[in-house]
Amino acid sequence: MKQRYFYAPREGHGLKHNPIASIVGPRPIGWISTVSETGQLNLAPYSFFGIFNYTPPIVAFASDGIKDSLRNAIHRGEFVVNIVTEDLADAMNLSSSSSKGSEFELTALSSAQSTRIATPRVERSPVSLECQVVEDFPLRDRSGHIVGSHILFAEVIGVSIDPSLIVDGVFTWGDTRTIVRAGGPADYHWIGAQNLLQMRRPA
Ligand SMILES: Cc1cc2nc3c(=O)[nH]c(=O)nc-3n(C[C@H](O)[C@H](O)[C@H](O)COP(=O)(O)O)c2cc1C
Repeated sequence: MKQRYFYAPREGHGLKHNPIASIVGPRPIGWISTVSETGQLNLAPYSFFGIFNYTPPIVAFASDGIKDSLRNAIHRGEFVVNIVTEDLADAMNLSSSSSKGSEFELTALSSAQSTRIATPRVERSPVSLECQVVEDFPLRDRSGHIVGSHILFAEVIGVSIDPSLIVDGVFTWGDTRTIVRAGGPADYHWIGAQNLLQMRRPA
């Protein structure tokens, strides 16, 4: 039998690319809109993003260092998670570049008013989660050293859905392809009805 490849991350992976983000992937992308202290609209993608509780819904994203989205969300106490569909992929990617002005202008995207919070959403995104910040959690390694990344937990207090995604009272992505981040410098997947696998939990 072939020997398994093993590496200890602290000693290096020995491969051409760090595989960890491919292994723990694909990941949903939280496309986070925030408002800065001076009132500028900010938009950036975060794939260290997830949902961690059903009721109430609690989501979180991780900032590798203190970036604008984290700073703004903590300052205002809120942010919006916009879901990225295939038609928005290029704009999402562009919004990850560090620009001086608003990424809404850079990407020529319009914003739309949220319902329960002051931070606007991306108008063309079919689903947006309006979030109120709960806790900023600085990450530590196993020795207790601060690693410099922060996880920001928030409660979703409003969910805004394009009505075409509700069919007979059931939410469905249908043919709307959402984008998820795979590994490597450039890999993504889209989610579609074509690759749906259904499996019920055992009773
Ligand atoms: C698909 C994608 C996912 C990303 N995920 C993260 C992430 O989880 N954490 C992070 O710190 N940066 C992530 N980035 C990089 C940020 O989007 C980038 O640093 C951005 O400029 C941050 O903007 P901000 O300072 O306005 O928050 C990601 C970039 C892309 C394209």
